Amino acid sequence: MSNSVKTGPQRDEVQAHRGASAVAPENTLAAFRAAAEQGAQWVELDVALLADGTLVVIHDDSVDRTTSGTGSLGALNKDDLDRLDAGSWFGASFAGERVPTLSETLQLLGQLGLGANIEIKQHEHHRSLEQLTTSVRAALRTAGATTRVMISSFDPEALAAMHRLEPGLEMAMLWSKVPPNWQERLASIPATTIHLHYKALSIGLLEEAGRLGIKVRVWTCNEPAVLASFWPAGLSGVITDNPAAFLN
Ligand code: G3P
Ligand code: CA
Repeated sequence: MSNSVKTGPQRDEVQAHRGASAVAPENTLAAFRAAAEQGAQWVELDVALLADGTLVVIHDDSVDRTTSGTGSLGALNKDDLDRLDAGSWFGASFAGERVPTLSETLQLLGQLGLGANIEIKQHEHHRSLEQLTTSVRAALRTAGATTRVMISSFDPEALAAMHRLEPGLEMAMLWSKVPPNWQERLASIPATTIHLHYKALSIGLLEEAGRLGIKVRVWTCNEPAVLASFWPAGLSGVITDNPAAFLN
């Protein structure tokens, strides 16, 4: 048996945040391809519903920041988004990228052999949690078993609803810092994983989580040196804009 101390992440513990968003426009197919090119095995992505119920991969509740258009997702349909350029804001070489649906994203990830950490965003325009979670499930069913999936959210209700639909999936609770009663909160979902802002991480948390069989990953860290002391203490993963920094 090896006595070697873990000094960095395993290859499958590095997740590309919104794809490899340091080098390609976030949450686009180009960003997911770039993650694969950098050697990542997982991508993190954000999902939200359009007015017509299409589930798309986008971080904000409007298209203003990351496309050529303007407007709330709640006032736009898939046809509207298909006319928008989601790449030029990042760089001319990405002109023509589109806001992808979750279904087409999962199809690509399956082809690339990448797992998906699907972050369910709750936006004000969403009509119901049921519509949101059943849409995620429908996309998963369309993708079939070719893509590894975990679900994350800042919303414990979304995780609980997803767990009821897909009890076999890993559920990760997103926190900026851990609340005092984090163990009870996870158990009530139930979730087995914490995704925590990297600045709130501590050795004590990793030790206690480890004793309880709870995984801890951190977001969004782009500096490998910052996490060096946490890998030997049981850190399970990093979500980063720059997977190459952790994989080389
Ligand atoms: O997965 C963690 C991270 O993505 C949460 O923050 O704002 O980038 O979605 P945000
Ligand atoms: Ca996210």
